[in-house]
Amino acid sequence: MKGIVLAGGSGTRLRPLTGVVSKQILPVYNKPMVYYPLSVLMLAGIRDILVVSTPAHLEMFQRLLGDGSRLGLTLDYAEQKEPRGIAEALVIGADHIASDEVALILGDNVFHGYGFSELLRTTAADLDGCALFGYPVQDPWRYGIAEVDADGRLLSLAEKPSAPRSNLAVTGLYMYDNDVVDLARDLAPSARGELEITDVNRAYLEGGRARLVQLGRGFVWLDTGTHDSLLEAGQYVQILEQRQGVRIGCVEEIAYRMGYISAEDCLRLAHEQAGTEYGDYLVGLVEQSRERPGAAPVFHSLHKTL
Ligand code: G1P
Repeated sequence: MKGIVLAGGSGTRLRPLTGVVSKQILPVYNKPMVYYPLSVLMLAGIRDILVVSTPAHLEMFQRLLGDGSRLGLTLDYAEQKEPRGIAEALVIGADHIASDEVALILGDNVFHGYGFSELLRTTAADLDGCALFGYPVQDPWRYGIAEVDADGRLLSLAEKPSAPRSNLAVTGLYMYDNDVVDLARDLAPSARGELEITDVNRAYLEGGRARLVQLGRGFVWLDTGTHDSLLEAGQYVQILEQRQGVRIGCVEEIAYRMGYISAEDCLRLAHEQAGTEYGDYLVGLVEQSRERPGAAPVFHSLHKTL
């Protein structure tokens, strides 16, 4: 399965923070926002990833993440010239997807929860058509909304409905089989002139090939679209990291634990950030696994919380 991170948009709601910087580079506590969605794809076992951003911002991501080899990834970059909708990322990424399946994630979505990596991997392995991830919210009119029956089967999907049929938001993580490329290419723009991801999902639903994976209580899906929600996301990460002494969305750690890079590679990345808590944390990880061989690089219990 290939990956796409869509880090587009002009971040108007976050001005003046986004005056010269991409929203998805802004800090969520101690890391750039894009680390969090990138880590989700990595945890799903995806290593070949396309980052899509605006012409003004793409270079920032290239400077930040490079070609991905330091993390054992292959990263490519593509421009979305105008904000023409989330689904356009699938058209822009058609060559990258080639004949493969794809997971698309929005660059401002933060996920965290026990068992998430396993859930990602089993959902990817069992993919038949499209898999969406649902999360209950209090303000359903702000999101794509899923209606399900008593058995959790999808009944309907609506984009920002004024009269929502449920409080289950469709999060910004989507997994698709290869049909999605043709489907996205054939989409007509909506009334607001965008290629809507909800239209793609609805096409799968109408074909009986869309599934909603519900992320339940105790799971966290955070918004970073406003100053308050951005700060809250940072505080959430801060509280968990300080309390448990673990890192959320630490791409170097995930690369190491997933076996994408060696202990030596991880130490090299740590030394580049020597003298910071972040660097010390990476050194500690490698030392711990050397003291307790077998604890890494393969994830055991720890990976469930990343
Ligand atoms: C987009 C999608 C919406 C989804 C949301 C998740 O909305 O259109 O269906 O629920 O992302 O973050 P946006 O945040 O771009 O308005």
